[in-house]
Amino acid sequence: MIHIDAVSQTFRGRRGRVEALKDIDLTIAPGEFLAVIGRSGCGKSTLLRLIGGLLKSSAGAVTVAGEQVTAPRRDVAMVFQRPALLPWRSVLDNVLLPIEIFRRRRSEHREHAQRLLEMTGLTGFAGKLPHELSGGMQQRVALCRALIQNPKVMLMDEPFSALDALTREELAVELQRIHIELGTTIVFVTHSIPEAVLLADRVAVLSARPGRLNKVVDVPIPRPRSFGHNAHMDQVAAASAELHELLLDVGDPARPAVR
Ligand SMILES: Nc1ncnc2c1ncn2[C@@H]1O[C@H](COP(=O)(O)OP(=O)(O)OP(=O)(O)O)[C@@H](O)[C@H]1O
Ligand SMILES: [Mg+2]
Repeated sequence: MIHIDAVSQTFRGRRGRVEALKDIDLTIAPGEFLAVIGRSGCGKSTLLRLIGGLLKSSAGAVTVAGEQVTAPRRDVAMVFQRPALLPWRSVLDNVLLPIEIFRRRRSEHREHAQRLLEMTGLTGFAGKLPHELSGGMQQRVALCRALIQNPKVMLMDEPFSALDALTREELAVELQRIHIELGTTIVFVTHSIPEAVLLADRVAVLSARPGRLNKVVDVPIPRPRSFGHNAHMDQVAAASAELHELLLDVGDPARPAVR
């Protein structure tokens, strides 16, 4: 579904050049959930912006559904860290915003919007204004607004990191359910190893700047997964430990160093 082919990104500004990404090669299959993890500033958001067509790469190419990305596409939706809802519009009208932007008929999509609100636990909140909702609920609205386009691909940039820990876990579990139900291809940037292990089929670990693809870790744990006690805790622990080591570049202090 997504091919990232020898992509590098260098920004040129008044303070010189910043190499943000270097030689990234990655293929993401249809329906795959790929998490992207790496230190702050290693180019994760840059990678999403390149896939989303918000930025043109300095070298290499990105293709989505067989077409080279040169601009934002209707079938690729983005969800950011902050929900960015329009404060004067109701929940329903916020969800329907992309429909208006793409000049489609609201009446034909109202039912879909209601279904998405139900799916994300927002039944009964359609007429509320954003400020009447909690942060977690607002982020659910942003998720519905992304899903109303029936996207083939969803690009999510730390979508839950502004939320408290429990709400964050709750939303991750909900996103897993939505992914299982809709089969959307998802690229999900996070700093959270537990979140990556709950959600991802594979985790792309980027090195510090310039971001290179350090390793792609498989997470072959059956779904649905959960944060609590479950039958696959050994696999969860193993995947988490590998990601910790890759990110922190330190081994287990209880294990003697290999010389
Ligand atoms: N438009 C831009 N102009 C100049 N430099 C930029 C631009 N966008 C990003 N950068 C630089 O590129 C590097 C990568 O930025 P990016 O936002 O992709 O990192 P990130 O991995 O998303 O970080 P974080 O985890 O903090 O969100 C940083 O050094 C950043 O300062
Ligand atoms: Mg970022």
